[in-house]
Amino acid sequence: MNKFNFKVYKFIPKYIRNIIHKITAQSPINYVKHNNTILPAKHLRFCGTNFNDNDYFFSSACLEAKRLINHFDLDKSSRILDVGCGVGRLPIGILNQIGDINKYYGIDVSVRAIEWCQHFINRWHPTFQFEHIDIENQRYNPKGVSIDNKFSLPFNEREFDIIYLYSVFSHMTIEDIKLYLKEFRRLLEPSGKIFLTAFVEENVPNITINPKNYKMTWSGPLHCVRYNKKYFESILKNFNFKIDNFEYGNETNGQSAFYLSRSDKQ
Ligand SMILES: C[S@@+](CC[C@H](N)C(=O)[O-])C[C@H]1O[C@@H](n2cnc3c(N)ncnc32)[C@H](O)[C@@H]1O
Repeated sequence: MNKFNFKVYKFIPKYIRNIIHKITAQSPINYVKHNNTILPAKHLRFCGTNFNDNDYFFSSACLEAKRLINHFDLDKSSRILDVGCGVGRLPIGILNQIGDINKYYGIDVSVRAIEWCQHFINRWHPTFQFEHIDIENQRYNPKGVSIDNKFSLPFNEREFDIIYLYSVFSHMTIEDIKLYLKEFRRLLEPSGKIFLTAFVEENVPNITINPKNYKMTWSGPLHCVRYNKKYFESILKNFNFKIDNFEYGNETNGQSAFYLSRSDKQ
C-alpha cells in the first residue's frame, strides 16, 4: 500500500476495514518470502524504516529471540506473553531459533496485525496464539475502549514466565502503563521476568510527549512518550518490579532496554 492509499484507508470506517482485512489477509500482497521464512509485507511493519529491509527485519527477529534465551533462559518449556506483538517479529525469531514452545501469546490493539499473525503463524504453529484486544491507544487504536482500574487481560494468574514489550510503553500513556504493570503482577509467575523498551533520559521532565529536538521528528499522537529515568524507575518500583539490567539507548530510535523481575516473590 503506498502512502496515498494508506491515508485514504484510514478514513474508511472500521467495520468496512475489518471486512477488507478478512478478504485480503491471505493475499500475496501481505507477505514476502525471505530465506524460506514468511515475513509480513513491508507496508505492514512497525518500528521505523530500518525494518523495511527484509534482512534487517529477520535478523532483528532472531536477535530478540536470542536476547530472551540469553537473559531469561527462554526454551521450549517457556510460556511467554508478547504485549503489542505487532506483525509477529518476536514469534518469527523464536520459531527460527527454538521452534515451537510451550505457550506463546501475542496480544495487540491492531486488528490487522493480529489477523496477519493468526493467518501466517498460528495456522502452522498452534501453540503460538494471537488475540486482538480492543483497547484505546491514540496512535494505534483511537476508537478502542479506554481502560480503568477494572482492567484485566484474558489470562489466568501466573500464566506466564516471561512478559515482553518491545516499543510499546514508548507509545502509551502513563495511566495505561500503570494499569498494565498492575496486571502483569497477576499474570507473571513469582520467578517470572519482564523485558521492555522505553524512552528514558536523565534531567528531563517526568513525561514529555513528542519531545522537540530529541532523536528525530515526532508527529501524531503518542509517537514518542519520553520519561525521566528516575520517575520511570519509581513507577516500576511502586509495582514491585526490580531492574536487573538496564541498557541505555541501543534499541529502535534510541529507546532503552529494561530487564525486570518481581521484588515480591510470593
Ligand atoms: C512500534 S510497534 C512494536 C511492535 C512489536 N512489538 C515489534 O517490536 O515489532 C507498537 C505495537 O504496540 C501495539 N500497542 C499499542 N498500544 C497497545 C496496548 N495498549 N496494548 C497492546 N498493544 C498495544 C501497537 O498496535 C503496535 O503493534
